[in-house]
Parts: sequence; C-alpha cells; structure tokens
Amino acid sequence: MTAEVGFSRGLEGVIAAESALTYIDGQQGILAYLGIPIEELTEHSSFEETAFLLLYQKLPKRTELADFKQELLRHRTLPEAVLDVLKRLPRKTAPMALLRTAVSVLGHFDPSPDDVSTATLQAKALKLIVQMATLTAVIGRWRKGLEPIVPNSDLSHAANFLYMLTGRKPTDEAARVFDVALILHADHEFPASTFASSVVASTLSDIYSSVCAALGALKGPLHGGANEQVIKMIAAIGDPARAEPYIKEKLTRKEIIMGFGHRQYKTYDPRARILKHYSEKLAQQAQDPCFFQIEEIVEKTVIEALGSRGIFPNVDFYSGTVYHYLGIEPELYTPIFAISRIVGWAAHMIEYLKENRIFRPTTRYIGPPLGHYTPIEQR
Ligand code: SDX
Repeated sequence: MTAEVGFSRGLEGVIAAESALTYIDGQQGILAYLGIPIEELTEHSSFEETAFLLLYQKLPKRTELADFKQELLRHRTLPEAVLDVLKRLPRKTAPMALLRTAVSVLGHFDPSPDDVSTATLQAKALKLIVQMATLTAVIGRWRKGLEPIVPNSDLSHAANFLYMLTGRKPTDEAARVFDVALILHADHEFPASTFASSVVASTLSDIYSSVCAALGALKGPLHGGANEQVIKMIAAIGDPARAEPYIKEKLTRKEIIMGFGHRQYKTYDPRARILKHYSEKLAQQAQDPCFFQIEEIVEKTVIEALGSRGIFPNVDFYSGTVYHYLGIEPELYTPIFAISRIVGWAAHMIEYLKENRIFRPTTRYIGPPLGHYTPIEQR
C-alpha cells in the first residue's frame, strides 16, 4: 500500500519534483533561473541565451551561443502543410487553439517524434522554440487575412517575431522590450501548464503530446489566458476616473480581478515589477498614457483591498500593456506567453526524464462504502 502524503486542494504546497531550473521565493518576490536573478538576466542576457541556459542548465560560451542562434535561424520557416492545415480552419478560431493544432501537425513531420533522449529533446525543443514563434506570427496575420512574412535572418529572435507579425522592422527599443518579456516568461517552476506537460512526458510520450497538453492548460483564463482578460478589462474601464469605482464594484461582487494573485507569490511578482517599468516607458513614448494610468489606479485599488491577503499584481497584469503599446492585439498575448514558456516546458521535460517516474497521485475516496450491484428491477 503506497503511503499517503495527505490531501491539498490544487496540490498547493505539494512538492511534485526536484528541479535545478527555477527558484521562486514567494514571500520575498525572488525569481531566478539556475540561480541567476531574473533582474540580472533581463538586464544582461537575451531570450536566446536564456533558452540555452534553461535547456542545457548552463550559460553558453560565445561559440555555443553562436551555434545555438544559427540553429534557431535554420528552422524559422514552417512545413508548407502546416500552413495548409491552418488555412482550412475557421478564421475566428482562438489563436491558442490554432497554435495547439499546429504544434500537433508539426509532430507529424518529425521523423522520430517518440525519441525522448536528452540530446534529441534539446534539438526538438530548439525547433519548437522558433517554429512556435513563426506560427504565432503567421496566425496573427492569417486571422486578419494577411499573408505570412518571410523571416529576416538579420534579426534577433524577438525582433524577427515582431517583424513577421507586423511586416515592419521593430525599433531597437521595441525589440529589446519584447526580448525582456520573452526572458520573463521562459520558466516558472511547476505551474499548471508545465506540470501538465511533465505528466505527459513522464509516460514517455512524445514532446508534441506534452506541449499540446501544456498549451491546453496555459489557454485557461486562470493561467496564461489572464493577460488577454486584463487588457480587455483596462479597455472596458476606458477612463482613469472610472478605474477605482469599476474595481470596487467587482470586489463587492466578489469577482476575481485578472492579473492579480498567485499560488506562489504573496508579494509583488518580480516579473510584474519589471514589466511595469517598460509599460510606463512605452506609454510615455506612445503619448498614450491612458492605459498605463488606468492600470496604476487598478493596481493601487486592488492592493489596498487585497494586499493584506497577499494578493498583488502577477506577470499577467502588465504584460498585456507592454504588448498593447507594441501594437499587438490581445488575442495573441497568451500565444506569446506560450512561445516563451515552451523553453520551460521542454527544460522540465528533459530534466525530469533523467530520473523519470510516471506521475500517478491518488485520490482520497469519499464515495459509498463497499456494497453490491442492485439489479434494475430493484431500483
Ligand atoms: C500565471 O503558477 C504560476 O506560476 C503561473 C504563472 C506562470 O508563470 O506560469 O505565474 C502565470 O498563471 C499567473 C496567474 C494569472 N491568473 C490570474 O491573474 C487570474 C486571477 N488570479 C486568481 O485566479 C488566483 O490568484 C490564481 C489562480 C492565480 C491563484 O489561485 P490560488 O492560489 O488557488 O488562490 P485561490 O483561488 O484559492 O484564492 C485564495 C483567495 C480566494 O478568496 P476566498 O475564497 O478564500 O475568500 O484569494 C482570492 C480568492 O477569491 N483571490 C482573489 C484573486 N486571487 C485570489 N480575489 C480577487 N481577485 C484575484 N485575482
């Protein structure tokens, strides 16, 4: 009989694996990848270098980074058939659902999809990192009846995504901010989407099945889908003068305020702090302070009401404003979360499989006592 370790709703506080990848201190608001604080990575690193750090669990040497970047460049285009499948789907399909379908189709073009050895998974992850970015840009344009843009090999991963989405080379500032956002979203220990992908990986299923499970989990508004809901709430408020009463009414109705609260952070999410800084900078440059002003009032109002209960802005609260000022539509915010978090999903898969044990928790039985079948005549 397996020893029970107790029941915790939503597995709160349950340690499901040991990992060297990401450290979170929810009381102090600390986040670090392989021991490197997120503030230093966003200051000095790039998404490409951070992806290497998480996939190989070390910072790359100059030549290793150059080779990694070169390999990313090689895979920026998609198999034609993936585009053909997308074009047959209803144009109004949710982008996260389109991304989930497209990743599944990508798996059909992998000659060895079921190979889960470390080196092979690292190679598959690298391809998914860049192809999911291309897919999201293609989906963003296809929804508006626009043709895909050919990737630009002179541009970084972040800059090329913005270029493939908008058709215009981004400013260095916009590319830098987007690169920071990708670094911030790359991993976060065992949230629902990473746990889901790790559960699938622990059965020795293929990486495409694991990533589709993760995409399904991230799509939910309580997880990655919150960023899209935040910006729609800010747009609905519309005027800074309406922000406080709007939030107070929601709180009176005991409604959940999207972009706030976190299972781990009981203080300000360090990612939200960094994104708030860039959101303010972009708002000033855009001469369009309204969105940011509304967000600041929403933040103040929610913290006044719920801060004492450890409810503060999380990563999803300011990410939407950054993307809004970069000219990206809300429906793409969660796919953008996914094209960064594919790094974390793959990194945890690779790490867990090194000492794999299939995930199989149990339930506490609260059903009827053991009895007997009742024939239908007696019911
Ligand atoms: C992400 O886990 C991760 O790391 C995820 C993530 C990542 O990088 O992968 O950080 C990304 O998913 C960020 C979270 C984005 N989601 C949202 O912003 C949705 C709004 N947040 C809430 O749904 C909630 O805070 C969660 C889902 C994020 C956390 O849920 P928990 O830990 O299960 O907390 P809970 O729902 O049990 O809430 C505890 C109490 C409840 O009140 P009571 O029933 O005890 O009276 O706090 C309240 C909740 O109602 N509460 C909120 C609230 N969040 C919690 N009340 C109002 N607004 C909120 N946002």
